[in-house]
Amino acid sequence: MPESGVPARVGLLGGGVIGGGWAARFLLHGSDVTLYDPAPGAQNTVADIVRNARVAFEGMGATLPAEGRLTLVSTPEEAVREADFVQESAPERLELKQGVLARACAACPAGVVMASSTSGLMPSRISAEMPNPERFAVGHPFNPVYLLPLVEVVAGEHTTPETVERAVEVYRSVGMQPLVVRREIDGFIADRLQEALWREALWLVHDGIATVEEVDDAIRLGPGLRWAFMGPFLTYRMGGGEGGMRHFLEQFGPSLQWPWTKLMDVPDLNDELIDTIAEQSDAQAAGRSSQELQQMRDRHLVAVLLALRNEEG
Ligand SMILES: NC(=O)c1ccc[n+]([C@@H]2O[C@H](COP(=O)([O-])OP(=O)(O)OC[C@H]3O[C@@H](n4cnc5c(N)ncnc54)[C@H](O)[C@@H]3O)[C@@H](O)[C@H]2O)c1
Repeated sequence: MPESGVPARVGLLGGGVIGGGWAARFLLHGSDVTLYDPAPGAQNTVADIVRNARVAFEGMGATLPAEGRLTLVSTPEEAVREADFVQESAPERLELKQGVLARACAACPAGVVMASSTSGLMPSRISAEMPNPERFAVGHPFNPVYLLPLVEVVAGEHTTPETVERAVEVYRSVGMQPLVVRREIDGFIADRLQEALWREALWLVHDGIATVEEVDDAIRLGPGLRWAFMGPFLTYRMGGGEGGMRHFLEQFGPSLQWPWTKLMDVPDLNDELIDTIAEQSDAQAAGRSSQELQQMRDRHLVAVLLALRNEEG
């Protein structure tokens, strides 16, 4: 029996890199998983991913319930007929997702939430053909799904608040940290950020400024280490010293007008935006001084660096 809150039976549509990752996360938390994937090799793909996940969970010292049972089926209907929760991870093609979700929705018990792993398609479009779009939301995970905690939950225009709540509850029950995106938008939050970096990376190589290895070094030896525990806002707050985010924005805001980047569309840093960012940054710092934040950053960096050193020998 899975622990409380963990769905007893999960229906998965698609068993590639991401569907296999969901299978591993749910199975290792005790859910029985019924999976539909039309590819003949899907069983092996999923088995390989689940094997890797077992090793990873062991490495994390996780105490887990008895593993759930995996069943592969040959139609989307069979995958969802007895499910308590459904996650679709079919290829990123709108019509394909619409088709498989519409079929599955018609066969899925009333009220059961159905989510899509899409990397950036709008939920209102994906659910357009579903008989019950109110039970649909995006649940966008990150690879490997069994290890990374983030899942972006995005509602479409017909999604009910109960659907979002249930998706959040399910993801939390299997150890994830859902981030509910306030408004439906292509690419959601994390992939928009990743894409901005990716565009710059491609330009740097295109212009002969850096090789792919140099671009990767520039991330993994510097900002990337911080990003394991601290996003751009808290990082830059410290860049503003005791003056915090407001000082940082005043000092470096104008440089956004310099032609450093290929991404030239800069929001107007007017007083209203500066106030919003500075206030939210103060709330995020929760009374911690710049010194305290720097010490927290250093402790976390030491932890990451030591873990990497242990791993690399
Ligand atoms: N790869 C990533 O890093 C990543 C990260 C987050 C989200 N996603 C999203 O997850 C989804 C799946 O991506 P992936 O990387 O696992 O792709 P993938 O190609 O590894 O797997 C897709 C699987 O879907 C199967 N499939 C094909 N038609 C199907 C159908 N009609 N019904 C059910 N399954 C079908 C394929 O046989 C394949 O096994 C996409 O929407 C993608 O955008 C991918």
